[in-house]
Amino acid sequence: MKLKGKVTLITGAGQGIGKSIALKFAAEGADLALFDINRETCTKTAEECKGLGGKCKAYAVDVANREQVTGACEEVLTVFGRVDILVNNAGFDRGATLLKVTEEDWQAVLDVHLKGALNCIQALAPNMIGRKYGKIINISSIYGKSGGIAAISYSAAKGGILGLTKSIAKELGRNNINVNAILPGLTDTPTIKKMPERYKRMIIEATPLMRMARPEEIANVAAFLASDESSYITGATIEVTGGWMM
Ligand SMILES: NC(=O)c1ccc[n+]([C@@H]2O[C@H](COP(=O)([O-])OP(=O)(O)OC[C@H]3O[C@@H](n4cnc5c(N)ncnc54)[C@H](O)[C@@H]3O)[C@@H](O)[C@H]2O)c1
Repeated sequence: MKLKGKVTLITGAGQGIGKSIALKFAAEGADLALFDINRETCTKTAEECKGLGGKCKAYAVDVANREQVTGACEEVLTVFGRVDILVNNAGFDRGATLLKVTEEDWQAVLDVHLKGALNCIQALAPNMIGRKYGKIINISSIYGKSGGIAAISYSAAKGGILGLTKSIAKELGRNNINVNAILPGLTDTPTIKKMPERYKRMIIEATPLMRMARPEEIANVAAFLASDESSYITGATIEVTGGWMM
């Protein structure tokens, strides 16, 4: 149990990668505060995590809404006493090519991925700095490094997360806070299940390991970065892609 007693806040925990991270962290002994815009799925994940033994509470929060994030984080700090680990995972896409991206969609995507991560980090960093301990894990995407066709806003947001990760790692290192990013490749989550099979096939054919990731394979890397086994890693951007776009 490498996360025994570690208080962890995970965003976008209602399904997919966020849910897998929650279940993995619960199995490793962490106490969990789960945020998702979808109260129903978030509560369901929390019930499953509680079944694994630890303390777990679900919060309906839109990470793009600064007031909601600040209020919920204050409540988490009161209920749990501290936050040791923050996983910024919440995300969504409104795919469009360059000439079709609307201002509204661009803003919405950047608000959730980039401002959402900043909102959570700013709400929790003072607690981590005060205790000289913290792990921040930002879920980016391989598109943040490579870009992607019809993924203008998404790639820009995910690339922004890499800059945010490195800048915050530089600022917070002196406070014993590790800040890292994971760049998943195609991962088999409910959202990806809706993607046309022909696109998935194209990606899989370009992936040396010749398959999608299972969400648990992303969660395993998050658990490593959250544990003290990775104590000398900060500012890293770790590709978990099966070799796609290496
Ligand atoms: N699945 C992939 O192939 C893949 C690849 C690279 C990166 N990622 C990234 O991993 C993360 C998780 O992806 P996934 O495939 O599990 O996604 P998903 O769509 O299956 O789940 C995302 C979760 O985030 C929640 N969410 C969305 N907007 C939110 C908001 N404003 N506030 C709070 N919660 C919100 C959703 O309700 C959902 O529960 C995302 O950041 C995504 O960009 C996914």
